[in-house]
Amino acid sequence: MIAPPALSGIQAIAVPAPRARGPSVRAGASTGARPGVSPPGYPSAAAAPTWPAEHFADPTTRRAGADGGALIAGYRGWFGADRAAEEEEWVPPARIRGALPPDLAGSYFKLCIGVLSRAGERLENVYDGDGLVARVSFPGDGTAHFLSRIVRTPEFEEEEAQGRWLFPSVFSKRSPSGARFNNPLRIANKNPANVQFVRLAGGLFTCGDGGLPCKLDPATLDTVASRCTTFGPGDPRRPDIGYPYQGSHSRVAPGPGGAGPERLCSLCRDRAGRDARSGRSGVPLRLTEWAMDGRVAGTTDYLMEGETVGLLHDWVVTENFYVVPQNPLRLNLGALLTGYALGRRSLVSCFDFDGEGDVRLHVIPRPGGKFDGEPARVVPMGPGFVFHLVNGYETDGGRGLVVDCVPKRAVDFASYSIGSTDAITEEAYSAAGRPNFNYLERWGVDLEAGAGVRSRVMDAACEFPRVRDTGGGVEGRPSRHAYVCSSRVVGEDGASGPFQAVSKVTVGVGAGARGPLSAADVAVASWDAGHRRLVMEPLFVPRAGSSEEDDGYVLVHAYDWERRESALAVLDARDLPAGPVAEVVLPSVLPNGLHGIWSPEYYGPGEA
Ligand SMILES: [Fe+2]
Repeated sequence: MIAPPALSGIQAIAVPAPRARGPSVRAGASTGARPGVSPPGYPSAAAAPTWPAEHFADPTTRRAGADGGALIAGYRGWFGADRAAEEEEWVPPARIRGALPPDLAGSYFKLCIGVLSRAGERLENVYDGDGLVARVSFPGDGTAHFLSRIVRTPEFEEEEAQGRWLFPSVFSKRSPSGARFNNPLRIANKNPANVQFVRLAGGLFTCGDGGLPCKLDPATLDTVASRCTTFGPGDPRRPDIGYPYQGSHSRVAPGPGGAGPERLCSLCRDRAGRDARSGRSGVPLRLTEWAMDGRVAGTTDYLMEGETVGLLHDWVVTENFYVVPQNPLRLNLGALLTGYALGRRSLVSCFDFDGEGDVRLHVIPRPGGKFDGEPARVVPMGPGFVFHLVNGYETDGGRGLVVDCVPKRAVDFASYSIGSTDAITEEAYSAAGRPNFNYLERWGVDLEAGAGVRSRVMDAACEFPRVRDTGGGVEGRPSRHAYVCSSRVVGEDGASGPFQAVSKVTVGVGAGARGPLSAADVAVASWDAGHRRLVMEPLFVPRAGSSEEDDGYVLVHAYDWERRESALAVLDARDLPAGPVAEVVLPSVLPNGLHGIWSPEYYGPGEA
């Protein structure tokens, strides 16, 4: 039985009072700083950055529509220039507001959409655009260095050389090369590797769901290899990744059974088809565990039976299980053979969403774990579509699971509601009665009964959830805190809004595992970035040497559509409503994008 989502109570976003600013460093904290890296005399003590007052206090209860068309135009504009600038600079002191904490030392990497137009032809969907990697590096001396580079896939290089689009992409209706037909039997779309990073054994990789990763030099952001078949060091063609599609999201998990060193777990897949040995049809998955030195520590092959699409974007790994959601999508063969083949439909628009179908959690025992050798279980969890999961962990000695995720009520690939600027309309974001599509939920899974219970955690629309995933990370383990970008429109079921706030969501460990959450189980604290700013995925950065789960900073890319200004805001994770302790204003507008990662290593001028 699936219980209906329980409303946990309206969570108001606190309106903070501006506070005195300055670094908040604990006595004796190890900072990992690299003093003397930045140029002599920089930053100048005379720098007097100014803070726009609205970055700290704003009414938070108005509807998104109150900002009208300007906000919508600003949101569409954030999807960027036809081609983002590639830049490098020490950020001038006058563009660092507040004071960067000296114990914020390391590198923030963010994947954005870098190229949307060639020869006057703009892509139909931003997610087909070439990736742009932006890096903000903090030596730990109050300064910041910025670098951005486009990911140079082989397709990008060829299109660059010819000055026009050449390759079809998954979201585009027709080949930008002008070809009139697509071959439905030999789908070979460009993988712009523009979604998420994998960082392992000193390597930095960018992944998309539609192909193999690219490897970058984290120091220069140069693309050093493409279509990589391993995340390990050395030859990027080593055949460790067994299939042609590496999923975007990897997870760091405890060793199997909760023992031993952490592993990086990655998920790749093959095309849908019939398994020769069993005769069953589905999508073959390969789940790979990597030791942190880049060696393959184990692989599991699994057939996701009945799956026809293979859009497998995110998952979680607990001590003893891989947990992979299967969304109620089916390949529409008729659409593929007619609309797609004739260039009238994109590949993704041939995916039909079943609004009444279940999200099915495939719970697959990890090799070397407590349930190694047991069959996988598949648990139906009710309707929706899960792109992103927050975290997951086991309860009752592995007889149950807690899985936090952001199920969408629906997806509409046919009308390009994802990734199309045409879908960003005032009506879409303010029309009365339009349902909020992205609720954060807690799923309690009873593995013995093969059933679950769902609870809504927060009333505001949200997405891009992150937890502490570096420096004593909590992925796969019981955790309390998650960070999401959220709508300023709160508590109205019939309204949504663009993401303009960052919320810290705290939920009791194990709460909601066997029954609905109650309001007492949940606390939400938010920072409202201001009515003319939009934000993307927040990233938690642990304070060096910290052990408390929320002891650290939250970094978030905020875009001011009125000033055409991008800034990286640095928030104290324990006090989001107080607003940023610092903001680094970037040299130019950083386009909207997807995910980012934190590396405790400083990459930039003067690195070792
Ligand atoms: Fe994602």
